[in-house]
Amino acid sequence: MREISSEYGRVVVASQSELFAEALRLTLASQRAARPGRFLWALTGGSTPTAFYKWCVETQALPSDLVQGTHFTVSDERHVLLSSPESNFGNAERQLLAPLHVPTDRRLPWMVAWPVAEAAEAYRRSLLILAGPGRAYDLCFLGLGDDCHTASLFPQTPLLQDDGGLLFGGQEVPGKGWRLTITPTGLRACGQIVVMALGAGKSEALHRVHRGPTDVLNVPSQILKSCAERVVWLIDEPAASRL
Ligand code: 6PG
Repeated sequence: MREISSEYGRVVVASQSELFAEALRLTLASQRAARPGRFLWALTGGSTPTAFYKWCVETQALPSDLVQGTHFTVSDERHVLLSSPESNFGNAERQLLAPLHVPTDRRLPWMVAWPVAEAAEAYRRSLLILAGPGRAYDLCFLGLGDDCHTASLFPQTPLLQDDGGLLFGGQEVPGKGWRLTITPTGLRACGQIVVMALGAGKSEALHRVHRGPTDVLNVPSQILKSCAERVVWLIDEPAASRL
């Protein structure tokens, strides 16, 4: 395991299983720092979490107080039903929460049955009750897209330019449909952020984020610079090849 310096957070380079163990260590530290019984953990979408979920289930890595005492949600969501294979929360439920028997009242999906504006508003209200004013998640997992997006903050999208100071919102992403997502303000209101990016396919995007010129509108993950002291990047050697 080695570390690379970056203005965008601490970058840890290791094998997949070491990275998953590190993700769990960061999760347990976040749980300890959270208010008792109120730990709020946002999982994320994409293909990377699938391998992490599998590892968690197969190795039974999550202690039972974490499984039972955590409020689980996702950082962003497609405006599709949870039964869709496209649904981030649906996948988290199928691959992690259900196999671990997470209590249903600890599962907080986005309210995708409602129109996007109402869904975002309802989610903001739920989070306000759970997390308190001005606070987002205790722990937010994120991925990195090939176009350098993170959560559902895609290049040139409105929430990246102006989120109105709201922690969560909805927007239409050209070619990708409607998305519900944590906003830049929301990211700055998280206790800990963990970005996981695995495989050679991520090396170009990681290079653009960490070594390219600052251009948040076209390289959305650079938004994390504004909360870099709370960001850890977990990447493997192939992904790190251009850093
Ligand atoms: C989503 C995400 C998104 C994802 C990245 C990386 O809903 O797709 O939240 O930000 O994390 O696109 O996805 P991969 O892990 O599939 O590369």
